[in-house]
Amino acid sequence: MPAFDFDQAVARRGSWSVRWERYPADVIPLWVADTDFLAPPPVLAAMQRRLAHGIFGYNAPPAELRDTVVERMQRLYGWRIEPDWVAFVSGVVPGLHLAARHLMGADQHALLPTPVYHHLTRSLVHAKRAYTEVPLVLARGRWIWDEEFLASAARPNSRLLHLCNPQNPGGTIFTREELQRLAMFAQQHDLIICSDEIHADILLDEGKPHVPIASVSREASRRSVTLISPNKAFGFPGAGCAFAIIEDAALRQAFCIDHHATVHDPSVFGYEASLAAYRECGDWLQAQLAYLRANRDLVQREVAAMPGLKMAHVEATYLAWIDASGLGISDPYKYFLDRGVALSPGAQFGAPGFVRLNFGTQRALLEKALQRMKKGA
Ligand SMILES: Cc1ncc(COP(=O)(O)O)c(C=O)c1O
Repeated sequence: MPAFDFDQAVARRGSWSVRWERYPADVIPLWVADTDFLAPPPVLAAMQRRLAHGIFGYNAPPAELRDTVVERMQRLYGWRIEPDWVAFVSGVVPGLHLAARHLMGADQHALLPTPVYHHLTRSLVHAKRAYTEVPLVLARGRWIWDEEFLASAARPNSRLLHLCNPQNPGGTIFTREELQRLAMFAQQHDLIICSDEIHADILLDEGKPHVPIASVSREASRRSVTLISPNKAFGFPGAGCAFAIIEDAALRQAFCIDHHATVHDPSVFGYEASLAAYRECGDWLQAQLAYLRANRDLVQREVAAMPGLKMAHVEATYLAWIDASGLGISDPYKYFLDRGVALSPGAQFGAPGFVRLNFGTQRALLEKALQRMKKGA
């Protein structure tokens, strides 16, 4: 009996789940990015202790969580940060929107990788900031930045470079060398780097470390806003807790200007869950990664055998980015939905010929979904 049982299915319909409530009961929902696994036992215990306390007043971010974040950045990445560089928010998404609104002027311009998690794009659209999409290209099986295109896309008023590392969708773990070149580009053009690193703990390829872009040089740290959250890797996005690490005091002040005006603090359950996740759940995370790795291998094998579909190897995340253009149909999302599997439409990320499959679920359900897709494809 394994220490943690990721095969254990827990009914999620009726729990207000975004992922499980949208489609009829006979559809397998493999779209929005949360997992079907119970949160780690120490996270559940920490939340239960807080629940038993019985008083849910306003809370300040716990100093011990700041210290844990500082220790973690040093231990995992050799990145030395100070406790007061950490600004807490209720999610990475609000952090993206705060960055677009408050770290660039109305007349300034941003550079955005594409395809990308839609809130990076939406942050700029909603803030009414001009931007240029920089395509990621498939090179030796990895989705990486088109650096030539990037060089040509910078404008005199460019101010912000959005980065998603590891990349969603696409699953790339950017290498230190790739990030050093991006950081150098940002320095040459005096750009702020807004780096969404929410998937940093979901590393499937052993021997490929996550590198925060801010950690590649002192200069990169000074111009970076790094958005991190334990909620994705440790299974509590509904209890939301995230933080921005911002060295530069002026940038930090600008980022935090909305504090309490539009963006509230994380809930006390988010703080409790984060502390427990970072302090006590290393073994659980490794077990989950082993399970996800096997799911990833299954998806890659099955997709490779389906005519008309192809996908690159997923280095990180539990999201497969599937090129369905070979099916010769205009709406692959609808095509698979009609066959009983709800995937995320590629159009959401800027690539209509693709679909994104969330394999953060029980293997038996994943196998069933792949069988349905196989019959369709
Ligand atoms: C790249 C990326 N950033 C942010 C989020 C969501 O962040 P949060 O739930 O902390 O707002 C997701 C969720 O799928 C994501 O994939």
